[in-house]
Amino acid sequence: TRTPVNVTVTGAAGQIGYALLFRIASGQLLGPDVPVNLRLLEITPALKAAEGTAMELDDSAFPLLKGIEISDDPNVAFDGANVALLVGARPRTKGMERGDLLEANGGIFKPQGKAINDHAADDIKVLVVGNPANTNALIAQAAAPDVPAERFTAMTRLDHNRALTQLAKKAGVTVDAIKRLTIWGNHSATQYPDIFHAEINGKNAAEVVGDEKWLAEDFIPTVAKRGAAIIEARGASSAASAANAAIDHVYTWVNGTAEGDWASMGIPSDGSYGVPEGLISSFPVTVKDGVYSIVQGLEINDFSRARIDASVKELGEERDAVRSLGLI
Ligand code: NAI
Repeated sequence: TRTPVNVTVTGAAGQIGYALLFRIASGQLLGPDVPVNLRLLEITPALKAAEGTAMELDDSAFPLLKGIEISDDPNVAFDGANVALLVGARPRTKGMERGDLLEANGGIFKPQGKAINDHAADDIKVLVVGNPANTNALIAQAAAPDVPAERFTAMTRLDHNRALTQLAKKAGVTVDAIKRLTIWGNHSATQYPDIFHAEINGKNAAEVVGDEKWLAEDFIPTVAKRGAAIIEARGASSAASAANAAIDHVYTWVNGTAEGDWASMGIPSDGSYGVPEGLISSFPVTVKDGVYSIVQGLEINDFSRARIDASVKELGEERDAVRSLGLI
């Protein structure tokens, strides 16, 4: 029998946590034959709610779920963690400046990064979901100098999945017909969903669509502003789709990308495609044996170049801001 994989989820009592935990426990995060222990990290006032969720996990009698622990101490919750999903974050409230937001999140992600550094398992893989995800990942990474930098990733898979469906609708196909779509840059309104290398049933997606006006004025803003559209419609931010994307991100990281396809992940740049080294930016990646690599050699046209550069510029500004706050 396999040793259970320890999966730590922060913000476990939140709405993404509620949509995420049951899918992890059912085997969708790692695979249908991988047992898991869940470690739930919450702030003290939310411990009781986390206990309620744990009761429901118990009541689901998942055969793969071998244990649940709940804590408000990162040093306990990350002890022996193999996978960490950092979901809990400080949302921007009315009147909050960007500096305040980054500082408040620094207060969360710096100690969590330190706890991961000191207590997680050697094979730890970290996905940051809580916004601003890319920069929160940078803060956690900087606080964990003993963990290989590439283990800290940020989620742009929800943007990737949103883009797949928008493109599929435009082309009159279903999402499974599409391959090699890319989200570049920051998980923010500046992100760039790129279809120039994507394929629809094996044909170049940009050529199949043949509509640059749609691309610039409809597709890109629809994908980039989808989070706001969900809030407008649902009265609450994306939760089940965000949890689904977190499942996809980790599943891909652990189990690999399909032959001939790739995925989008926010990862530390190695300088590829002109993205300054160290910035946690979204790239097209392939994954094999639990290790991701940036897809190399893609030709970047002027349309794409300007948009990638704009998003990367924003990432650089966020990094400079957290640096000046002493968070990295
Ligand atoms: P939520 O407010 O429902 O839940 C957040 C939970 O985190 C709360 O239960 C809170 O008590 C907890 N928390 C706060 N500080 C914590 C700490 N220091 N340690 C542990 N837990 C802590 O929020 P929701 O909807 O679950 O979203 C979570 C985050 O995910 C937000 O930052 C949101 O912006 C982000 N998000 C990111 C997406 C992406 O594509 N990267 C998509 C959707 C949401």
